[in-house]
Amino acid sequence: MPVREAGTAPSSPPGQTEGVLVLRPARPEDAAAVAAVHVRSWQAGYRGLIPAAVLDDLRPEERAARYRFGEDDASAPATVVALDDGAIVGFATTGPREDPACGELLALYVDPDAWDRGIGRRLLAGARVALARTGSERGLVWVLAGNARAERFYRADGWEHDGTRRHAEVWGVAVEELCYRRPHLGDGLGARP
Ligand SMILES: CC(C)(COP(=O)(O)OP(=O)(O)OC[C@H]1O[C@@H](n2cnc3c(N)ncnc32)[C@H](O)[C@@H]1OP(=O)(O)O)[C@@H](O)C(=O)NCCC(=O)NCCS
Repeated sequence: MPVREAGTAPSSPPGQTEGVLVLRPARPEDAAAVAAVHVRSWQAGYRGLIPAAVLDDLRPEERAARYRFGEDDASAPATVVALDDGAIVGFATTGPREDPACGELLALYVDPDAWDRGIGRRLLAGARVALARTGSERGLVWVLAGNARAERFYRADGWEHDGTRRHAEVWGVAVEELCYRRPHLGDGLGARP
């Protein structure tokens, strides 16, 4: 699937952009659509890893209320959304850490109906570029223990488990996570360390 960043010329004539994935910064009005993807992706991707009752009770509106999209604050997390034919199908959130040379991928979710179409890979490349633009040289992401799909996904993009694990609370849920790192952020899609 071709990709372009919002604000650049489309690679197809107007009205023929079907199949073109657009990445752009999240706006406040995206919150409901992002939250719907967030919850659906949790429910499909974390089934068997997080108690079913927790997953079934997730409420998109609670998540939507806590996003801070469109704030002009370089020290706050930044979210990029992926749009397929105008509909939000995924998002990635990046943020600075205490070590300014190492940026963190805080979230990366694709709607389950759109998995395995290369959208996550595009978002991951966009997230690496976003982190590099804010001065980071390296990246890290915490992956839910047992999330084999995500581990395979990150490894394919040059991220490696550094051997550390942690207990954390994510959206009120106690989880165990593995730390994956990328020693260089590269310069976009397909760039390997
Ligand atoms: C993990 C997730 C984001 C992947 O998104 P996706 O859109 O389905 O992934 P893609 O279609 O882009 O990946 C396609 C393939 O490219 C691979 N790939 C990714 N980056 C690559 C790269 N730079 N070079 C080569 N291959 C790459 C992936 O491993 C995958 O290969 P596979 O099908 O053999 O496993 C998605 O499944 C998801 O939202 N899961 C639930 C939430 C989750 O686990 N998020 C991660 C939180 S840490």
